[in-house]
Amino acid sequence: MLKTEILLPTKENINIVGAALRSGMLAALPTETVYGLAANALDGGAVKKIFEAKGRPADNPLIVHISDLEQIKNFSLVREIPSKAYLLAERFWPGPLTIIMPKGTAIPNEVSAGLDTVAIRFPSHPVVRAVISAADRPLAAPSANISGSPSPTTAAHVFGDLNGIIPYIIDGGACTVGVESTVITLCTDIPTVLRPGGITPEQLKDVLGEIAVADAVLHELKPGQKAESPGMKYKHYAPKAHLILIRSSDDNYINFVNERAGDTVGALCYDEDIDRLNVKCVSYGKKSDYAMQAAMLFDALRQLDNTDLETVYGRCPETAGLAMAVYNRLIRSAGFEVIELA
Ligand code: TXA
Ligand code: MG
Repeated sequence: MLKTEILLPTKENINIVGAALRSGMLAALPTETVYGLAANALDGGAVKKIFEAKGRPADNPLIVHISDLEQIKNFSLVREIPSKAYLLAERFWPGPLTIIMPKGTAIPNEVSAGLDTVAIRFPSHPVVRAVISAADRPLAAPSANISGSPSPTTAAHVFGDLNGIIPYIIDGGACTVGVESTVITLCTDIPTVLRPGGITPEQLKDVLGEIAVADAVLHELKPGQKAESPGMKYKHYAPKAHLILIRSSDDNYINFVNERAGDTVGALCYDEDIDRLNVKCVSYGKKSDYAMQAAMLFDALRQLDNTDLETVYGRCPETAGLAMAVYNRLIRSAGFEVIELA
């Protein structure tokens, strides 16, 4: 077992971790979305360690993180930069948007999982940017969780999953966005959102005009239906308890849950519901504050796993704006199980 060090983001520690990454080691880093598990994106052998540490299926490609737009050209990360990428970059970078472009010659197969495209992200968090600059390499980084558990939004979440498996975690506090970046591909006729996140489809439409949202964002893939993005075919963020979402009015949700109250029954609810429910409650934010819901969701799912609850009834999120990202994550946690009430 490895000793896992949790480091504060001092200049000295950032240089230590940058050098470690350059020499092929792994480190977990804070970003504005979730914590990432980083390796030198240009070193296939280093990237392979990410898949081993997380238990990630090898056919699920990684996002390449940069700290400066020039790195895209200087490191030959993409074959060509589509004109629409400039529009998106100007408006949303640095920030929680990942853009899929034709893959460049420097990208090892371990990163792209054999696809001829590559996902590029320019994060806004100062710590991850400082580490990329210290490493002087683009960094491949998926979320820093064990595959299948909720993405980590604090250093403690990362430690819980990866203690003894990775050498370094930099603690940059809680992530502000709380769900992973929006992923959009520019390698289809119409730019298509493959994963909703901190940048909403409405915002993207504003810049690009026409966009599409992949079917699998809001719906379960039908047997035999091909996922536009490999990540969408895996079961994600499943809590230990049986989680069922209830799509209903406030009153019907409260009544439905209270009628089923018991020691092993709980609620994954909104703040406003807590006083009215007679079961153990974990809240994922205020009913109409979607940014708060995004920021709290993954911690709420981890809290559920620290209880003995066996059945949890969750409020079904909305799907407009930032709520689409919350819905996309929670519907997967619930294995697409939704009860519709009036
Ligand atoms: O906010 C984020 O994006 C975080 C932080 C650490 O930056 N990273 C993250 O990475 O969420 P990960 O690996 O957990 O999710 C990457 C998603 C996966 O669903 C993957 O299938 C998809 O992006 N993806 C990556 N490259 C792709 C490609 N070339 N084509 C289609 N989908 C791709
Ligand atoms: Mg992930």
